[in-house]
Amino acid sequence: MNVIISGTLRKFGSATLVQLWILPVITAPKVQLCTLPTEPVVAAKKPFKVELVEGKRYSWCSCGHSLKQPFCDGSHKTKTKGLMPLRFVPEKDSKAWLCGCKYTANPPYCDGTHKQEFIQSALLLENKD
Ligand code: FES
Repeated sequence: MNVIISGTLRKFGSATLVQLWILPVITAPKVQLCTLPTEPVVAAKKPFKVELVEGKRYSWCSCGHSLKQPFCDGSHKTKTKGLMPLRFVPEKDSKAWLCGCKYTANPPYCDGTHKQEFIQSALLLENKD
């Protein structure tokens, strides 16, 4: 709680009386209002076929805002709240289908969720800035 101290000066002969009031000030708790979404946007309605290199570090975009799909470009920092890329290192060279809809239950890999109606009817984010 904040406190305001204010007062007045009163003259009594040669003495000065100082009256002080201590007033509690009720302030609203500091709440950070955030309007950033906590759910991913559908980046694509199908998976991305990629060739993964053994030992290389990858960051799979989980928010759907990256312009470097299916990988992260840092967009999650300004376009979402709480969504982070999934970092992984393949144990061998391989081809893989990485999720583009961002709703897979087996990230970063496609599990077929993109075939569901809520993905197929979703609007794709076209106004990427
Ligand atoms: S693209 Fe997301 S589950 Fe297939």
